Amino acid sequence: MLIPYAIVGVMTALEDAARAAQHAPSVFNTQPWSWRITGTTMELFADPARQLDAVDKQGRLLLLSCGAALHHARVALAAAGRAVSVSREISGNFLARIQVEGPAAPTMVDLAAAIPERHSDRRSFGGQAVTEEELTTLRRLVEAEGAYLHVVRPDQVAELGISAERAAAAERDDPAYQAELARWTNRPDFTGDGVPPAAGVRQELRRVPIRDFDPAGSAALPSGDEHDQGTAYVILFGRSDTPTELLRGGEALSALLLRATADGLSTSVISDAIEVEWPRTLVRGLISGIGEPYVVVRLGYLPDAPPPPPTPRRDPRDVITVVEQQ
Ligand SMILES: Cc1cc2nc3c(=O)[nH]c(=O)nc-3n(C[C@H](O)[C@H](O)[C@H](O)COP(=O)(O)O)c2cc1C
Repeated sequence: MLIPYAIVGVMTALEDAARAAQHAPSVFNTQPWSWRITGTTMELFADPARQLDAVDKQGRLLLLSCGAALHHARVALAAAGRAVSVSREISGNFLARIQVEGPAAPTMVDLAAAIPERHSDRRSFGGQAVTEEELTTLRRLVEAEGAYLHVVRPDQVAELGISAERAAAAERDDPAYQAELARWTNRPDFTGDGVPPAAGVRQELRRVPIRDFDPAGSAALPSGDEHDQGTAYVILFGRSDTPTELLRGGEALSALLLRATADGLSTSVISDAIEVEWPRTLVRGLISGIGEPYVVVRLGYLPDAPPPPPTPRRDPRDVITVVEQQ
């Protein structure tokens, strides 16, 4: 049977969206997802072989990463003028289904343009403060995705710094963590994943320390002279950490990062403070115990610096399956 022309067009749009989703951020750049396209639907699966055993025993960061990929795909489809419905019924590795319902006026075009422009920037940000208006915009976007945002108050930054420092120390002393970090920061080129030394910054005194991706000390980027004076720290959190809420939390994370990028902000994610039990309790305290913290995000300006180098991505043929229709 010949496939109707319109369905071919939809399948191409879905494949383009799955490719756009490959730009999504993921913990240790594991890119722990795959897509299956059939006719006018696209299904998202988690790839448990890419779950981090030491860092992410419960698979929370894996689900957040998959949620970010799901949101990237939604943005790409909206910008391509496709109306979709999304169902999230997590069962085993199956996470979500996107169904194209028909044509629509393109939306979220600026967010789609930000997809290839967004890179984690771990350097210290400059003195220009992130405005209240910007933070309100980001909070509303996150809430529209079913999660919440707490802007860390100036009097809370030191405690956030202590949480990140405690977590880093605990992980430094954990041989399983060190082995996992070594595995994901020394990937052969053909894997198209992991965090290369070029993306890491040298460890220097910071208000809130960032993950040391290169304990051997060959990280390419200096952390810079800016001291994070204008940096805003926000805690992305949800009511609980059920799988569906975590998936939606990842969608919210993507919405936050893409909007911030489109608005000219530099960003990076901090999750080590959430990975270790005691620092996680401290971070939960910063949100007054009203929910479960998912990740911390740094937001700030680095107007004169060249963008940080992009990280690799997997071969789309290993990630996207197009089911031929009979
Ligand atoms: C759930 C999650 C947790 C992350 N945790 C950290 C972190 O603790 N420290 C960090 O520097 N980057 C963190 N990242 C950013 C990833 O390392 C980054 O997205 C990945 O290496 C790909 O690089 P890119 O963001 O530049 O595309 C995290 C990203 C996600 C989605």
